[in-house]
Amino acid sequence: MIEIKNISHKYKKQHHNILNDINFYISDGEFVTIVGKSGCGKSTLLNIIAGYIKPTDGQMVIDGKEVNKPGKDRIVIHQGYDHFDWMSVKDNLNLINKDELVVNQLLSKVGLNDKHESFPYELSGGMKKRLSIARALAVNPKFLIMDEPFSSLDHKIRSQIYKEVSILTKELNKTVLLVTHDLDEAIELSNKIIVLSGNPTTVHEVIYLDRHNQSNDHSKVLDQIFNLKNQIKKLIED
Ligand SMILES: Nc1ncnc2c1ncn2[C@@H]1O[C@H](COP(=O)(O)OP(=O)(O)O)[C@@H](O)[C@H]1O
Ligand SMILES: [Mg+2]
Repeated sequence: MIEIKNISHKYKKQHHNILNDINFYISDGEFVTIVGKSGCGKSTLLNIIAGYIKPTDGQMVIDGKEVNKPGKDRIVIHQGYDHFDWMSVKDNLNLINKDELVVNQLLSKVGLNDKHESFPYELSGGMKKRLSIARALAVNPKFLIMDEPFSSLDHKIRSQIYKEVSILTKELNKTVLLVTHDLDEAIELSNKIIVLSGNPTTVHEVIYLDRHNQSNDHSKVLDQIFNLKNQIKKLIED
């Protein structure tokens, strides 16, 4: 479990806090999405959770212990690509995990089982992102942190990869923290949405999505999603 307790942050060159008194928690097995305006500090918050940035105030507690540095338990997938261009797909993974069985399984799980010997330049954008997912999972982290990781892909491929990530992370029992600007994705994937807004930025609202109680009536579900989207949009604009 990750607990974010009263975290505030101000960059040295700036006069005001970017983040102010942020509080929330991520339980094991959750898929949590953070939404908020561009520039409100989402990446800053993820970098704090990844341990790359030390917040000016507050603390992060992971499984009962205060943490303020990076660790193999938390792996980040960023917007760009993180592979080595001069290495085959398989070598890119072997660099992280030498276990052939694990590497083969991961490549097959992300749909790259016929690409072991291919080089990144031979892969489409979506395949390169699948390689990023496999590389992140090859570390066997407990928490997978994603900062708008697929925003360079077109909508159709993006939503397909998100669905695959959602199934895969459940299967592998990972806890996921995602930043996205796409509210449909946030609503579809997460069990909890953290809405950031205000100046300086704080947690405006935490929205819990209860999938078990979702109606079977398709038009009712669409109505609910429509209302939820409008609610979140309003909260972000406030
Ligand atoms: N290393 C940094 N030094 C100073 N200011 C920064 C740094 N990184 C980000 N910022 C500023 O902090 C604010 C929040 O940035 P960021 O966390 O990237 O927002 P988001 O991911 O929500 O778009 C922005 O105003 C940005 O310019
Ligand atoms: Mg960002």
